[in-house]
Amino acid sequence: MENQVIIQLKGVSKGYSNNLILNHFNLSINKGEFLTIIGSSGCGKTTVLKLINGLLTPDSGKVYVNGEDISSVNQIRLRRKIGYVIQGIGLFPHMNIRKNIAYVPNLIKKDDKNKIKSKVEKLIKVVGLGEEMLDRYPSELSGGQRQRVGLARALAASPDILLMDEPFGAVDEITRKLLQEEILRIYKELNVTIVFITHDIKEALKLGTIVLVMDKGRIIQVGPPSEIKENPKTDFVRELIGA
Ligand SMILES: Nc1ncnc2c1ncn2[C@@H]1O[C@H](COP(=O)(O)OP(=O)(O)O)[C@@H](O)[C@H]1O
Ligand SMILES: [Mg+2]
Repeated sequence: MENQVIIQLKGVSKGYSNNLILNHFNLSINKGEFLTIIGSSGCGKTTVLKLINGLLTPDSGKVYVNGEDISSVNQIRLRRKIGYVIQGIGLFPHMNIRKNIAYVPNLIKKDDKNKIKSKVEKLIKVVGLGEEMLDRYPSELSGGQRQRVGLARALAASPDILLMDEPFGAVDEITRKLLQEEILRIYKELNVTIVFITHDIKEALKLGTIVLVMDKGRIIQVGPPSEIKENPKTDFVRELIGA
């Protein structure tokens, strides 16, 4: 179905101690969209992401995922539907790559051993790595490879939504380009909704079907990359795109 809202923040306010970060924040994301969020450091991007998967609770307002108010759904079930990929993803150092990727499937014991095994072997290829990686430990991988494994682990739970918080921030330029191609391919292949935070405007414009520009807890502009480029709404956006 087109234009079905999968994530919605409605009048959400959120602060830390006395510091209000989001003030009546509203956002709707359609199913199947690849939304990139860009904005100055500290403007509230990570806060928005953590409100979506319930890692943070709004002070007021509501967050809906698949039409359900997330404050009234089972948090474990919610997180399983939402993959979360962060920079320098915390892989378990004492588990090999196979066990790291299979972590959630092993935990929920819905699939039998053979099914999990073939899932892991499929996923390692989906993220562009070879099966020989599966027996290695995280310390035996490069930063870019670890990032791919983190993505595979998030995908192993077959999420409807993938939240990515500056996932490629810590890798070199060449690896970054490769990972960008990879995430676009996975996006097209798996029909997943992605919310992706970046501080790189080129990355935001390249990956996003919709780009959201934020400043100081507010949405400055949201629209397709072409619109952001051709009709920047404010000086802030103009500066960002270097126009
Ligand atoms: N746990 C916390 N306690 C206090 N302040 C926080 C906490 N988390 C974030 N902040 C502050 O809230 C603001 C928004 O943070 P964040 O959403 O992480 O910004 P961004 O991801 O856009 O850089 C920042 O000023 C940050 O310092
Ligand atoms: Mg952040």
